[in-house]
Amino acid sequence: MEKRTELYRGKAKTLYYTDNPELLVLEFRDDTSMGNGEKISQFARKGILNNKFNYFIMNKLQQTGISTHINSLISDNTSLVQKLEMIPIEFVIRNYAAGSLLKRLNIQEGLSLNPPIFEFFLKNDKEHDPMINSSYCETFGWISKQNLIQIHKLCNKINIILSKIFDEANLMLVDFKLEFGLFKDYLVLGDEFSPDVARLWDKATMKKMDKDLFRHNMDGLIESYEEISCRLGLKIN
Ligand code: ADP
Ligand code: TMP
Repeated sequence: MEKRTELYRGKAKTLYYTDNPELLVLEFRDDTSMGNGEKISQFARKGILNNKFNYFIMNKLQQTGISTHINSLISDNTSLVQKLEMIPIEFVIRNYAAGSLLKRLNIQEGLSLNPPIFEFFLKNDKEHDPMINSSYCETFGWISKQNLIQIHKLCNKINIILSKIFDEANLMLVDFKLEFGLFKDYLVLGDEFSPDVARLWDKATMKKMDKDLFRHNMDGLIESYEEISCRLGLKIN
């Protein structure tokens, strides 16, 4: 496999073409951003940690029959992935109240949400990723009705699998964001799953261990990502 020119540089990752038109190199950079790119900082090792974490989680999902874009790990901070036609929507599952839900509903942080809440947002940094619903999707044609129903089912299935994995590592999976794409009309989980796109709290103390540390200007982001990886049994050099 030969890495070729850049296809897209996002806020935290870069995609490159390869000599195979169906495969891309996904590079995890050390950049981290908030406020749709308004604040950007670099954290040494974050790219390596997220690449390996993502590879571990995507493999776990793949083993349970969920199609993911992951092909292989090709270096410390890059993976080979299937090129997808991305659906321009961010899908969020919430098991406990946190983040924007608190502002929207003025409820207690950590409130258990049963059944978990499913929300989705249009991927549009300029408009600050507005919340949308199935009626918007139908009118604007962002995703078909069937695919939306299928993604809701997939998100619930992924939530059950991942909540168990994190629970066994003494972590609460508070909420997370997923992105899906199409490969020859087939729905595939794309992008990433890492502490950058999920809230993970220590089960005993409810201490925040994810990107919220950066969002709230708290210390120890990388140490915390290392701790999460270690609890999952991942050895990252
Ligand atoms: P952003 O675009 O929000 O700044 P990133 O820095 O994470 O985010 O960039 C990664 C981009 O790559 C995202 O826009 C995501 O939708 C896209 N992407 C992720 N996986 C794939 C894939 N397999 N094929 C094509 N695009 C992908
Ligand atoms: P929120 O509480 O800010 O709406 O975020 C819910 C979850 O989705 C949280 O785990 C962070 C994740 N998320 C992203 O990964 N990217 C985003 O652009 C947004 C808005 C949320």
